[in-house]
Amino acid sequence: MHSNERANFGSKIGIVLASAGSAVGLGNIWRFPCEVGSNGGAAFILIYLLCIALLGIPVMVSEFLIGRHSRANTASAYKILAPGTQWKWLGFMGVIAAFLILSYYAVVAGWTLEYTVAAATDQFSRGGDFTAFFNTFVSNPWKPALYMALFLLLTHIVIIRGVKEGIEKFSKVMMPMLLLIICILVICSFSMPGSVEGLTFLLKPDFSKVTTKVVLSAMGQAFFSLSLGMGCLCTYASYFSDEANLMKTAASVATIDTIVAVMAGFIIFPAVYSVQGLSPDAGPGLVFVTLPNVFQIAFGNVPWLGYIFSVMFYVLFVLAALTSTISLHEVSTAYIHESYHISRSKAAYIVTGGCIFLGVFCSLSFGVLSDATWMGMTIFDLFDFVTAKFIMPLGGMFISIFTGWYLDRKLVKDEVTNKGRLRLPFFGLYIFILKYVAPLAIGAIFLNELMK
Ligand code: PHE
Repeated sequence: MHSNERANFGSKIGIVLASAGSAVGLGNIWRFPCEVGSNGGAAFILIYLLCIALLGIPVMVSEFLIGRHSRANTASAYKILAPGTQWKWLGFMGVIAAFLILSYYAVVAGWTLEYTVAAATDQFSRGGDFTAFFNTFVSNPWKPALYMALFLLLTHIVIIRGVKEGIEKFSKVMMPMLLLIICILVICSFSMPGSVEGLTFLLKPDFSKVTTKVVLSAMGQAFFSLSLGMGCLCTYASYFSDEANLMKTAASVATIDTIVAVMAGFIIFPAVYSVQGLSPDAGPGLVFVTLPNVFQIAFGNVPWLGYIFSVMFYVLFVLAALTSTISLHEVSTAYIHESYHISRSKAAYIVTGGCIFLGVFCSLSFGVLSDATWMGMTIFDLFDFVTAKFIMPLGGMFISIFTGWYLDRKLVKDEVTNKGRLRLPFFGLYIFILKYVAPLAIGAIFLNELMK
């Protein structure tokens, strides 16, 4: 496949926003607060930030260069760069991971759609028990599954429009709007009665709570949130122009992603402490129970404003999720399309259909299949565990080894400096991290956890 046959992103800002669109999603607004809540708050956040800077950015640059140099889907990329070797499994594992993540991610994305409908039909402004609302909804056998399928179809529509007209156009409109709304909500949340406790929880580290499980969770969250270790950004980078500055793009994406995650924490935790009966370790329902309360409490006196903000927020929640599901979908679609010479639209149907099938099981694990567990995990938890805590960090580790040890140093340098046109003072440090720091750190955290 030659570069001139493939689609490309049209502009640098399009590249940053599409990649940031992949990174910013439910991982920031839903998973991050949930992980912070169950792992003890500020100490978790500090470790998380360390993982982003030390492991996340170098691995992201590596994925970018692998994708851009090979100009192919992630499975073929390794075959092109390391022909005849076992490295092909690394790309293949990414495609599988993307498929699995999309299947359970779409379930939660479907919930955001249901909440948008509920907000738009004014079901939240009357108050009530939002915990019960959430539990009744997710345990319903067909409604959340239908929303999940609907969400995958929305993703499908953008994907079949292609890279420039679909993915890029969409991200360019969505991302700025998302950032604006998040800022407004942070201000609302700071005005809540429990904001001091919430902020203390977020900002005052208690290191006695740090275990290897917490470190593994922080690392998993960093990889998940940056869409790393499974070929997503590698696939996007295969559509980058030769002019794109890979280091700078990675730094921008990581910064945007981290700011959004921390701001989501600022929105959620003051509200958690402002509402009776909520606790920060409430699990996957946390955001879905607290957010309706945020609007209720913040706009109690001006209900119409509360209505507008809540609808706006859920719409944006949907769209943030959508820019991520699009990137997940693209990994598998590009793979099937390019590797089996099936048309892009047929490939997209296969992915959408397959994910709907698996998604039904993930969705039902909050209801009729809640007893189908393995080592205490439901099907949904298992999908999350296998991908975020296992495949993604492991993928990150092997990507580091691949770039640091296997790839020709000149190729790596040419890609990150755009053939010498960019100055790169940190190149030595970057290679050092890839060769030693990332593999050893990730490996140690893994071993520690697995030896238990
Ligand atoms: N990074 C996305 C989020 O935080 C999730 C994601 C993971 C997207 C892996 C693509 C690939 O929501």
